[in-house]
Amino acid sequence: MEKTTQLYEGKAKKVYATADPNLCVVSYKDDATAFNGLKKGTIVGKGVVNNRMTNMMMRLLEKQGVPTHFVEELSDRETLVKKVKIVALEVIIRNVSAGSFAKRYGVEEGIVFDEPTIEFSYKNDDLGDPLLNEYHALALKLATKDEIAVIKKYAFKVNEVLKEYFLKLGVRLIDFKLEFGRLTDGTIVLADEISPDTCRFWDAKTGEKLDKDRFRRDMGGVEDAYKEIFKRVITGE
Ligand code: TMP
Ligand code: ASP
Repeated sequence: MEKTTQLYEGKAKKVYATADPNLCVVSYKDDATAFNGLKKGTIVGKGVVNNRMTNMMMRLLEKQGVPTHFVEELSDRETLVKKVKIVALEVIIRNVSAGSFAKRYGVEEGIVFDEPTIEFSYKNDDLGDPLLNEYHALALKLATKDEIAVIKKYAFKVNEVLKEYFLKLGVRLIDFKLEFGRLTDGTIVLADEISPDTCRFWDAKTGEKLDKDRFRRDMGGVEDAYKEIFKRVITGE
């Protein structure tokens, strides 16, 4: 399936139409942003890592009963996906305190939670993706009660599957962000990406960060971190 016209360009990906109205092509860029686009840069090779890693995660999750938009990997940077309308909610699951959680609640990073947490942000760049709860999401008609229940169920399932998967690769899954979409018939499926841009990965032995925090925090070694996590995913060790 060939891409035709460009439908959308986001901060890290472009989306193209295809001859089939129910399918799109996603194309991953090396562009990186942080802090709602305030910080901009390039992470060489990121598009390839994020595309291929996302597709491996989507295949794994499908097998474990989480429906996704994934159809077929077309190339290193391009993937055929089912066309969805993205639900305007960013769904964040956390296993360990880090990032905005640590900052908001004034706690250190690295506190292991007894139970994973879930939070939602309103996916709206103009507003800076403000945090909201389920009642706010309903009031804003971002999703229905039933949709939110399904999204929560899938999000926790993704956490269970990925936490175990990454631990086998010597990596702790600290937290991550998911996005969901509606197919034309309204079915909720997992969409967007699962990559070092959207997850925090800490090496289980050394605690080294293997994700986009190296870019956000100017830590250096950004490309190497993406390469290292990708190598583990590819080799399975
Ligand atoms: P946070 O601690 O900054 O709220 O981030 C939580 C997780 O969500 C982390 O794994 C990074 C990911 N994330 C995104 O994928 N996109 C974003 O815009 C933000 C702010 C975080
Ligand atoms: N990609 C997001 C942005 O540019 C933020 C992030 O991942 O930290 O706003």
